[in-house]
Amino acid sequence: MERVNVGIIGGGLMGKEAASAFGRWFALNDFPVAVELVAVCDLNEHVLDWYRKVPTVKLLTTNYKELLANSEIDVVYVALPHNLHKKYYIEVLESGKDLLAEKPFGIDLNAALAIEQVAKRLGRFVRCSSEIPFLPGPQRVINEVQSGMLGDIIEVKAGFLHSSDLDRQKPINWKRQNKFCGEIGVMGDLGMHVLHVPLRLGWKPNLVYAQLQKIITERPDGKGGTATCDTWNNATLNTEVEIEGNKVPMTLEMKRIAPGETNTWYIEILGTNGGVKYSTKDTKALWNFTLKNEEQYWQRTDLGFKGLVFPTITGGIFEAGFSDCFMQMLAAYFAERAGKLSGRFGCVTPNEAVASHSLFDAALKSHAGSRVQNITYN
Ligand SMILES: NC(=O)c1ccc[n+]([C@@H]2O[C@H](COP(=O)([O-])OP(=O)(O)OC[C@H]3O[C@@H](n4cnc5c(N)ncnc54)[C@H](O)[C@@H]3O)[C@@H](O)[C@H]2O)c1
Repeated sequence: MERVNVGIIGGGLMGKEAASAFGRWFALNDFPVAVELVAVCDLNEHVLDWYRKVPTVKLLTTNYKELLANSEIDVVYVALPHNLHKKYYIEVLESGKDLLAEKPFGIDLNAALAIEQVAKRLGRFVRCSSEIPFLPGPQRVINEVQSGMLGDIIEVKAGFLHSSDLDRQKPINWKRQNKFCGEIGVMGDLGMHVLHVPLRLGWKPNLVYAQLQKIITERPDGKGGTATCDTWNNATLNTEVEIEGNKVPMTLEMKRIAPGETNTWYIEILGTNGGVKYSTKDTKALWNFTLKNEEQYWQRTDLGFKGLVFPTITGGIFEAGFSDCFMQMLAAYFAERAGKLSGRFGCVTPNEAVASHSLFDAALKSHAGSRVQNITYN
C-alpha cells in the first residue's frame, strides 16, 4: 500500500479538521493509500500545543521553511488567511511537494492564476478544498443531472448561507477585513463551495449581475475598541449559463448574514421533465420532482452513509455530516493523486478555482458599474 506523509501549514479551524480526519483514516474501507499527518506549522504556539496529542506528528514548528525542508513530507495542506495563499502555495510547490490548497486559492484572480501557472510548470498535483459536494445528497443531485432525466434545464439555484455575523458583538477577525480575506469578501469565503458542483457539471456562466452588500461595517476589535469590517457580507450573483444550447438563469448566493442559517449549502435544479434539490439544512433528504398523471410531486428520499463517494465502516443507514464529507474530500485528493479515483467525484481542480475567481472578479465589476458583466475565462 502506498504511504503518504502530510504536513499542515496553518493549524487553526481547518488544520484541526484535517488532523482529525487523518486520525481516523482507518474508517475508510479498503482505501488504497495510507496517509499520516507528520508535521504541523503555525505561528501560534498555543495552536501547536493542540497537536501534541496527535501521536503521528513528529515535527511542530513555527517556521514553515523547516516543514518544507523535511524530505519525509510528500503533501502539504495549507490552511492560512487568503493574503498568504499565493506566497505559501508557490513555496510548497517549489519545495517539491504536492499541495492541497484551501479556497479561495489566492486572494484574487491574479494570485489564483500565478499559483495555477507554477503548479503546471512544476507538474505538481494540486487540488483545492470544497467538501460539501462529497455528501450523498449532492452526489445524487449530480447523478440526476448527468442521467439526462431532468429534460431541458429551466433554472439553477445554489448557495451557501451563514448567519453568525448577525451578532454585532462578534469580534472582528481576518475573514472580515479585505486586506486579509480579499476584495471579493464573502465570495472568497463561500463561493468555491457554491460553484464546485455547477462547474463540474460544465456550467460556466457567461454573464453576471451581482448584488453585493456590506451590512455590518463595524465590529468590536476584541481590545475594547471598534474596528472597520470592510468586506462584502452578502453576494447574490444572478448569472446566465448556456446548458445544451439554452440560456439558463443560475442564481448563486453567498451570504454571511442570512438570518436563520448556520451552514446551509443548497442546490436546486429544475428541468422540463423533472427536478432535484438538496440542502444541508435537512441533511438526509434528497428531493425529486416529477409530473405524473397531471399531478406534481416532490418526493423525499432519505439518504445514508452508503451514498458517500468512498465506502467507510459506518452503517449505511446512518447520516453523514461535515466531518464526514471533509474526510471524503481528503480521500478523493489522495485517491486521485495515486491515480485511483476510478471515475469517482474529485476535488476542485486549479482550473475550476481560477474559473471561480473569474466569476468573482466579474461580479466586482458588475456591482461597481451596476451593470451586467461578461465573464471571460483564462
Ligand atoms: N473548507 C472549508 O469548509 C473551510 C472552512 C473555513 C475556512 N476555510 C479556509 O481555510 C483557510 C484557513 O481558514 P481557518 O478558518 O482555518 O483560519 P484560522 O484563522 O482558524 O486558522 C489560520 C491559522 O493560520 C495561522 N497562521 C497565520 N499566519 C501564519 C503563518 N504565516 N505561518 C503559519 N501559520 C500562520 C494562525 O495562527 C491560525 O492558527 C482559509 O483559506 C479559509 O478560507 C475553509
